Amino acid sequence: MSNMIFIDACFRKQTAHTPIWMMRQAGRYLPEYMAVRKEAGNFLNLCHNPEMACEVTIQPVERLDVDAAILFSDILVVPNEMGMKLEFITGFGPKFPEPISTDADLDALDMNAANKLVYVYDTIAKVRQRLRADKALIGFTGSPWTLATYMLEGQGTKTYAIVKKKIATDPAFMHKLLEKLTLVIQDYLCKQIEAGANAVQVFDSWAAALEEEAFFDFSWKYMLQIAEHVKAKYPHIPVLLFPKGISGYLDTVADMGGNFDVFCVDWSTPIELAKAKLGDKYVLQGNMEPTRLYSQKATKEGVEHIVNVMGKEPGHIFNLGHGMLPDLDPENAKYLVDTVHEMTKR
Ligand code: CP3
Repeated sequence: MSNMIFIDACFRKQTAHTPIWMMRQAGRYLPEYMAVRKEAGNFLNLCHNPEMACEVTIQPVERLDVDAAILFSDILVVPNEMGMKLEFITGFGPKFPEPISTDADLDALDMNAANKLVYVYDTIAKVRQRLRADKALIGFTGSPWTLATYMLEGQGTKTYAIVKKKIATDPAFMHKLLEKLTLVIQDYLCKQIEAGANAVQVFDSWAAALEEEAFFDFSWKYMLQIAEHVKAKYPHIPVLLFPKGISGYLDTVADMGGNFDVFCVDWSTPIELAKAKLGDKYVLQGNMEPTRLYSQKATKEGVEHIVNVMGKEPGHIFNLGHGMLPDLDPENAKYLVDTVHEMTKR
């Protein structure tokens, strides 16, 4: 047993209650986050400043008493350090003004990026020093596929036309890019662990853009490769994989197997289905619909349903099925944490 219930739960050990944390638990719904971001000037400055990033990482743990902190950073710092100019535009989101498209662009990507992300490792070391010993610190990365999508499209997209055109017309280009990202990400996660991260999560936010065969070929395969690399080096560190929106592909996920610990369930996947298909093989994390947090009644009903399905036996970590929204009431987030802790007491 470790002294952290989040880590114990990742390894299906008995815990005093089901642990909970929330994706995007550090962010704009917290006035104390807005104060630090204002001081930083903008979002990227905040990511680059270990002192401030440390402070906002710890804020939700102190306010909400969640069982784990997640590193404050963004998935897009990786392509940024591979040489792509990055902007975060208020009211619009992230943007790479010069997306990649040619083989020459691929060759120009900096494979030394993991060594340049020192501000992330400094943040992790600071957080681990200051965080309560029984709270886990989760490091993270975007998946190769989700990062590749941003690198080709330059921004969020509804159709994925540019990246899917590459898949259709030049799959070798895509695999070359995904292989490069896989190498950088493996190195990045190992360095996060060496700096003090107690677990790592891979976010594949755009998994659902791919039809089944393409998902396994262009995304999941690389996620499994990253997990295998990390687990071979650090078997005591839980690896969590979050492919968002692929409830139709769970049979194949189960058949394929893979060396990871926790499968993260998004809100559109019925938790009963995830449990039936994957619950024996992997610990499940998730999956309350984030907008339930607009009402305490809806929150309570959401928790009751998930806890009834997952039970109090080891095998579940409570989370949202995607990230917190900026206009949610922190009081309701606190209510969620207290309700989960109360309802799942052993
Ligand atoms: O608390 C946490 O979960 C840790 C920090 C974290 C952020 N981004 C901070 C952030 C994490 C884990 C991420 C991951 C991330 N970033 C993902 C994967 C998870 C997901 O949500 O699917 C993706 C796709 C991104 C890319 C990204 N970064 C987008 C699309 C945006 C704009 C979102 C918006 O609502 O405006 C960001 C910016 C971002 N990353 C913010 C935060 C707190 C908002 C920035 C601000 O303060 O204005």
